[in-house]
Amino acid sequence: MSFRQPLLRRLAVLPIALLAAFATACADEYPQTTFSPVTELGAAIDDVFMTAFWWTMVILGVVVVVLAYVLVRYRSRPGVEARKIYGNNLAEILWTAGPAVIVVLILVPTVRTIFFTYSEPPEDAMVVEAVGHQWWWEFRYPELGIRTANQLHLPVGRPVEIQLSSADVIHNFWIPRIAGKRYNYPVVALPEGAPQPKNHNRLVFTIDEAGEYMGQCAEFCGTSHALMQMLVVAQPEAEFDAWVAGMKEPASAVPEPGTIEARGQEVFITGGCMACHSITGTTATFGRIGPDLTGFGSRWKLGAGAAENTPEQLARWIQHSESLKPGSKMTPFPQIAGEDLEALVAYLQSLK
Ligand code: CUA
Repeated sequence: MSFRQPLLRRLAVLPIALLAAFATACADEYPQTTFSPVTELGAAIDDVFMTAFWWTMVILGVVVVVLAYVLVRYRSRPGVEARKIYGNNLAEILWTAGPAVIVVLILVPTVRTIFFTYSEPPEDAMVVEAVGHQWWWEFRYPELGIRTANQLHLPVGRPVEIQLSSADVIHNFWIPRIAGKRYNYPVVALPEGAPQPKNHNRLVFTIDEAGEYMGQCAEFCGTSHALMQMLVVAQPEAEFDAWVAGMKEPASAVPEPGTIEARGQEVFITGGCMACHSITGTTATFGRIGPDLTGFGSRWKLGAGAAENTPEQLARWIQHSESLKPGSKMTPFPQIAGEDLEALVAYLQSLK
């Protein structure tokens, strides 16, 4: 007995340790959590999860209590013969009907929510086309005539319809605080302006809280799948309209002559960048293979989350993007160096 006492005492620490481990889950902000939705769509999915979760907890509780009761009440004792029971109609009816009722109580809200996640967009919904590329996101606003990449600006309080497609392989659009995952299929990656068939996936939601929400491609799509991130910037209507105006006619696109930015723009135009990239307000307007760089200087990161958007990282990205993002399809430009590189970096970061 004497050697068991410390063991028991040590075991008593276990629940405290478990509780502490659970408590760490409340310790920090989780940018990609599904538990604090900011849209009615996310809230509906969260409700279904919680419904199933609490029913599971009820079942766990009942099973544990009954098990504990049986273990204590019917434990082996000297001189007491175990009672053997063969069949009990009441018990059998209860353990068949009980789970059946619970399944129905989970099934009904689940099916209702599945249909809700596929609801038709309202008439006034703003359309955004989210096109997956290896490994970045293109966002087109056909009604507004603007395009951007990786950083998706959306207005708060206005219904949005995201039309999902891909330019190459299957990707998966996932912004946990906004909605569940949904596939980007390659079938509808048509040239801009072409009539879009209506067989693409879509997500319809209204954001009800301004903020920044992280998202991530959720389908393994090749080498840099993990570096295919996006940031949603949800803004009050007026702020969003100001952003749209700035994207349509970016004052920053044409720098003062004689400045380092002006030299940088020249490097951009003559150095080959414009074969793949566009910047609204300049002569570089036809490059479609790489991300549109209008407003690039305000993006939270570069390379769809591959690196911080700093001059050092951007210079490295231009010269050897693959060193920051394995498999990157961007042509490396080691020949852009020295003052040219410095000027190009300054120009790109001035685009706000
Ligand atoms: Cu795109 Cu994973």
